[in-house]
This record gives sequence, structure tokens and C-alpha cells, in this order.
Amino acid sequence: MNKILVTGGAGFIGSNFVRYVSRERPDWHISVIDLLTYAGNTQNLDGLDESRFKFIKGNICDENTIEPAVADSDAVVHFAAETHVDNSVHDPRPFVDTNVVGTFQILEAVRKHDKRLHHISTDEVYGDLEPNDPKFNEDTPYRPSSPYSATKAGSDHLVQAWIRSFGVKATISNCSNNYGPYQHVEKMIPRQITNILTGQKLKLYGSGQNIRDWIHAEDHSSGVLTILEKGTLGKTYLIGADGEKTNKQVMQLIVELMGKDESWIEQVNDRPGHDLRYAIDSSKLRNELGWQPRYTDFKEGLAATIDWYRQNDSWWKPQKESTEAKYKELGR
Ligand code: NAD
Ligand code: TYD
Repeated sequence: MNKILVTGGAGFIGSNFVRYVSRERPDWHISVIDLLTYAGNTQNLDGLDESRFKFIKGNICDENTIEPAVADSDAVVHFAAETHVDNSVHDPRPFVDTNVVGTFQILEAVRKHDKRLHHISTDEVYGDLEPNDPKFNEDTPYRPSSPYSATKAGSDHLVQAWIRSFGVKATISNCSNNYGPYQHVEKMIPRQITNILTGQKLKLYGSGQNIRDWIHAEDHSSGVLTILEKGTLGKTYLIGADGEKTNKQVMQLIVELMGKDESWIEQVNDRPGHDLRYAIDSSKLRNELGWQPRYTDFKEGLAATIDWYRQNDSWWKPQKESTEAKYKELGR
């Protein structure tokens, strides 16, 4: 296996994965297929070695684009998705199209051409936890709550059905909340950092007691590469780095690291149906495949991420105003 097709490779985690693989596997050829929605940006892929990298602009829902690209690769790593919960509550349709129909098209193409597939999913398919519940593991029942998580759950079920009914050679991973460079400013951590950088307050939804389990995007990438190379076909693996924090704690760290005080944290309207807590038990991936996260100190990873946004304002500034205008409409 040395020719991979990465869907959604111009997005946050997909591009991180492409850069990671191009570094770690210098003999691999990587093709990216990406529609370049508001969330995709070809600058995320700048500087890659052109002799082993190809970019295809296209929609994963379009069979005529997907099929030849899949036929021309050894394996597909499928990141492409609509990903933001707030957008899914406002307008669910693109989530059904890309996450469900798009995954169906990928599955049909890998079935036809007998290719290896790794499907990227999220811990949000498991719904939410109470503060003292045990963490999610591979046997936790699906209980999605938002249109985003419901369509990701639908895509996981399609992959599981194609494995069982057609013998498709696939694995699935469900990862927790990612942070790091190149994340769109609509998401929680980059939104707060760039709010401070543009003189605006941080926006805390509701009480701020909701808990997310943070992992650096590069650790997500190393987990995916481990599963692609060593995972058992047909299996699901959870990826997480024991990074549970309340949203309030994350905001307190951001103001501290950026030299502000807590008066900069403003409470805003809560998200409808807001999941309380996510937490991942990744012992299967660690014990069976020997994976370990590298970024185990969240404060250090967050400080490096803040530096990246400070140094790359030409990357995020063009998205900032329209993103905040969308939030204004939602009252958040
Ligand atoms: P993102 O929104 O930053 O990027 C998504 C990419 O997919 C964009 O480049 C976009 O242009 C592309 N895309 C969207 N619709 C497409 C279509 N129809 N055809 C082709 N390309 C299309 O997302 P992300 O945060 O990088 O997430 C990537 C994957 O990881 C998703 O499957 C998501 O569910 C999963 N995931 C994300 C997180 C997280 O914290 N961000 C956590 C766990 C899992
Ligand atoms: P987000 O990055 O949207 O990821 P997800 O909803 O997929 O977990 O949000 C992470 C958490 O931060 C979530 O509990 C909602 C909250 N949040 C805020 O408090 N303020 C914000 O401005 C945003 C975007 C999110």
C-alpha cells in the first residue's frame, strides 16, 4: 500500500493527516479529493512535494468524480464531512448529503474496486455522558443527539453494513474533540483565540460546565495511520488522549495564556440540545496496536496553537467576519 486517497484533505484534520503522512511515509503517493466548501482551504496543503501529491477538486457525492479516484488508489481515508454542530442545527441538509450520501458513494466505489477503506468518525455518535459515567468504549451503544452526530452515526452504520453484507475491507475510528493549527475559526478554541486577537470577548455557551475530551490533531493523525496499517479489518477503534476539560476551564486557560483576565469571558445563549460530556477510553488502540499520543500536556499544546494563530492571521482573517456574522444571527 503506497497510494492513498484522502477525502476532505483540505480541511482541518484531513490536511494535518496529509502533512503527517507525507513526513512519516516519504515513499507514499497521496491524492486529496475535496469540494473546498467554506471549511476547505488549499493553503492548508501548501509546500507538499508535488511529485507525490495530487489535488482533485470534487464532491464525494458525485459518483463520476469518486470512482476513478478510488480505482487509482490502494486505500481511501475518508475525512470529508460537514462537521459543525451549530451549522447542523441551523441547516441540516448538507449534513445528510455529504455525511450520509457521500459516504454511500465512497463505499460503493471501494466495493466495486475492492479497495481498503478507513472511515473517520467522531465520539459524538455515542451521545453524551453524565459527569460520573464511565467513558465511551467500542461497545457503547449509538445515541446521537444533533443532526451532525446523527448523520455521522448513519455513515458509521453504512460502513458497518458494507463490511458485513459485502465484505468491504474497512476500519472505523471515532475520535474526540481535536485542536491544533488550521482549525476553522467557527470551532470553539480558534474562535476564542481569534476573538481576543480581534479585541472581542470569548463566548461561553450556557454554564460552561460541558466537558470535551481534547486531543491534538497530530495525535489523531498518528492514530489513524496506526489503524490503517495495523488495524484488524472490520473493527472500530476509539482515539482519545485523556484530555477532559470543562469549556470554562479551556477558556480560563486561553485568557491566562493570552494575558487577559476572566472579565473577557462572556456567557452567551446555550446551544439547543447541547451535549454535556464526551470522554474516550482508548485502551483498545493503545493495548492492541501500541499507539500513544505525543501531546499529553494540554496547556503546552494550547500555547503552541495560540502562537500559530498569532503568526498566521492572513490564514484566518478572511473567514473571521463572516463567521461572527453567522453567530450573531444565532444569538451566540
Ligand atoms: P473540516 O470541516 O475542517 O473539513 C472538512 C473538509 O471536507 C473540508 O475541506 C471540506 O471542503 C470537505 N468537504 C465537505 N463536504 C465535502 C464533499 N461533499 N465532498 C468533498 N469534500 C467535502 O472538518 P474536520 O474538523 O477536519 O473533520 C474531519 C473529519 O474528522 C470529519 O469526518 C469529522 O466528522 C471527523 N472528526 C472531527 C473532529 C473534530 O474535533 N474536528 C473530531 C472527531 C472526528
Ligand atoms: P465545538 O468546537 O463546536 O465542538 P463540538 O460541539 O463538536 O464538541 O464546541 C466545543 C464545545 O465548546 C461545545 O461544548 C460548545 C462549546 N462552545 C462554546 O462554549 N463557545 C463557542 O463559541 C463555541 C463555538 C463552542
